[in-house]
Amino acid sequence: MASGGAAAAALRAARWLLPLAVPACCVVWMLLAFAPPTPPVLGNEDIVHASPRPPERELIVDASPPPPKLEKITGASSQPPNRQARIGTPPSPPPPQVARRQERQRRAARRAAVADRCAGRYIYVQELPRRFNADLLRDCRSLSEWTDMCKHVANAGMGPRLTRTGGVLPPTGWYDTNQFTLEVVFHNRMRQYGCLTADASRAAAVYVPYYAGLDVGRHLWGFSNSVRDALAEDLVGWLRSTPAWAAHGGRDHFLVGGRIAWDFRRQDDGGGEWGSRLLLLPEARNMTALVLESGPWHAGDVGVPYPTYFHPSRAAEVASWQRTVRRARRPWLFAFAGARRPGGGGGGTLRDAVIDQCARSRRCGLLQCGRGRRNDCYAPSNVMRHLRSAAFCLQPPGDSYTRRSAFDAMLAGCVPVFFHPGSAYTQYRWHLPVDHAGYSVFVPGESVRNGTVRVEDVLRRFGRAEVAAMRERVVRMIPGIVYRDPRTPAGGFRDAFDIAVDGMIARVGRIKRGLPPWEDNHDQRRWNGYFDSQ
Ligand SMILES: *[C@@H]1O[C@H](CO)[C@@H](O)[C@H](O)[C@H]1NC(C)=O
Ligand SMILES: *[C@@H]1O[C@H](CO)[C@@H](O)[C@H](O)[C@H]1NC(C)=O
Repeated sequence: MASGGAAAAALRAARWLLPLAVPACCVVWMLLAFAPPTPPVLGNEDIVHASPRPPERELIVDASPPPPKLEKITGASSQPPNRQARIGTPPSPPPPQVARRQERQRRAARRAAVADRCAGRYIYVQELPRRFNADLLRDCRSLSEWTDMCKHVANAGMGPRLTRTGGVLPPTGWYDTNQFTLEVVFHNRMRQYGCLTADASRAAAVYVPYYAGLDVGRHLWGFSNSVRDALAEDLVGWLRSTPAWAAHGGRDHFLVGGRIAWDFRRQDDGGGEWGSRLLLLPEARNMTALVLESGPWHAGDVGVPYPTYFHPSRAAEVASWQRTVRRARRPWLFAFAGARRPGGGGGGTLRDAVIDQCARSRRCGLLQCGRGRRNDCYAPSNVMRHLRSAAFCLQPPGDSYTRRSAFDAMLAGCVPVFFHPGSAYTQYRWHLPVDHAGYSVFVPGESVRNGTVRVEDVLRRFGRAEVAAMRERVVRMIPGIVYRDPRTPAGGFRDAFDIAVDGMIARVGRIKRGLPPWEDNHDQRRWNGYFDSQ
């Protein structure tokens, strides 16, 4: 990623032109375990993918650190020796009436924990001065030179409502969402979270609502590095002085950066000119960053789904869309939507090879951005109609490994085809099932680039029933990869936000117990060979 100057700027600029997307999963039993006292929504099984996923199950088990009350009581019965000496308590077992009282207290604490459906799930929001979030929205005209971000940060970050789509999209729940507004959506969604606490010491994790991506996005082109870093440095200095920080050195804190991690990890030793150094600051290294694409060798950031155009408020809206994509006529075997990338040297890029293969095949639908009105890949209804017309959707890397289009495709019920594990499998580990062959196709990119593998040959080998089964998997993943309308209270389904918060709570639970943030996992290690070691 070290390319500098105008070429890199052009590449990055291209990202703005690219609508993208694909999503992930869901877990019914989590819903059951933490069911809020709302009545179950009818037809929920329809949308929630019912098979429990082993890794998440582990995460969840990890997710319940002992409730604070319990901790205090347990702590009382095992005072450190010097304390006992000082207050003169004999180091022998307590007299029977004390033991009985302690046992009663322990039971009461356990009952309280059971009665408190939020036990172990509280989030503390570290409120920040306006310069870290609200002011960025107020000054929305300065967020991008090319895109009217004022319209895209509207509606709690979802952007303008999509109304006239010629019947392609339903009349409610759809918005012209920009791929870089996740921070705003997430912050607003957090305001609806059912287990907020004003007491940081009770919190399972601390959320820092800094709009990291909107901040750096303003300064990517034509600013000095010190301007790019200013607000990030301001933030960590500010955080360090808070009482909430002191408890764990910020290791229970998390923030959302609605861009790829490369944009926050400028390497100055290579004459770096791209992005900020946010994620390299010592404070940020203690925190977790939820980003659209994590760096392959950085345990400190976690990939979460790109926002799509769909922000349902109710489970019924999701179920209705699922029915629509199940019934969709899919004349194309496979499809691609996107743009070529400038540069790429003489050998041609993987993306070019994929586009060429699509263009040459009678069975591939190609929506190449920018060639006339029919090829408008900025119009959400155009993109969604295209992706909904194919069984498989090609997701070659572009400027980076991931694409929003992967999530748009899954939302359209189109089975994603990935060419690099960094495009999904190593990224969205909370949101996508481990069993990647169940919902996607993997074709090693190098074999496509060098012309030894034709994508069409690979895809033709899947039988009708196999394709239908994969599509059904994808369709069931839809609730877990979309971000619910953040303005509405609980919608009767678990969305990408809910899954991210659960993942975060489990992660902080591991960190607090001195465990590595991720379990060692051979499903993940098998992909190591696809990344340059560092
Ligand atoms: C990061 O966490 C460690 C361990 O809790 C702590 O010692 C260190 O001071 C923290 N770093 C910062 C910058 O707060
Ligand atoms: C093409 O790439 C594949 C996968 O890396 C490799 O196995 C194969 O040998 C390559 N073929 C040629 C002709 O370079």
